Amino acid sequence: MSGMRSFLIAGNWKMNGDSGHIRELATGISSGHEPVEGVDVLVCPPFPYIASVAGLLAGSGIAVGAQTVSENGNGAFTGDVSATMLKDIGAAFVIVGHSERRTLNGETDTQVAAKFVAAQAEGIVPVLCVGETLEEREAGATEAVIGRQLAAVLDAAGIGAFKKAVIAYEPVWAIGTGKTATPEQAQDVHRHIRGLLAAEDEQVAGGVQILYGGSMKGENAAGLLGMSDIDGGLIGGASLKVDDFLAIVRAGAAVRK
Ligand code: PGA
Repeated sequence: MSGMRSFLIAGNWKMNGDSGHIRELATGISSGHEPVEGVDVLVCPPFPYIASVAGLLAGSGIAVGAQTVSENGNGAFTGDVSATMLKDIGAAFVIVGHSERRTLNGETDTQVAAKFVAAQAEGIVPVLCVGETLEEREAGATEAVIGRQLAAVLDAAGIGAFKKAVIAYEPVWAIGTGKTATPEQAQDVHRHIRGLLAAEDEQVAGGVQILYGGSMKGENAAGLLGMSDIDGGLIGGASLKVDDFLAIVRAGAAVRK
């Protein structure tokens, strides 16, 4: 089944960089990138830099996305950014429900689902993050947590919405910790996620890209990307250095060959 799906290698730059660093990163990635069929590349800069990165990457084949979006349309929501605005400045994707936003900004499953819907209403592809904490894993609750996070979006958007969405499985204990899930640990959860979707619609489930995120780097990417239900990566730390990020892209290209 994995032969049908392209890889998506996505950089989540989080709240890092300044104009100079971001320009270097974007131009470095675009000049070092050798496009390979079946391997798509995405970078998600902080809001203030999305438009300039979209300009720098125009024609490179590398997509640009945002790290979150308001669930509301334009209006009196001080400090927020709408999907309409993101589309206007060239964002094709948006991460929703990243664990840092669930934890630090108190985003609920329902709110994340509303963000997913708001993005799709503008034709922006949501990258829906799901994942369990260490306590939840140790309590044997991984599948229950992911089931709950996914159900909120299925309830709000329906299975058909996953034809134009990406899922990222990001075990919270692996994010920024240097502790990566083993390929088998990740594959187990990815298979479970695909199974939950397949119970609703097998064809949609077979087409949806499920990325792994959490301390992915050049050295562990090939093992993870070699698993049948892992269709790419959502990369934080290693996406902030041109060579580290491109090493993951190349690992994807090697697996796809
Ligand atoms: P990390 O972050 O690669 O630094 O672990 C991944 C993420 O939070 O998306």
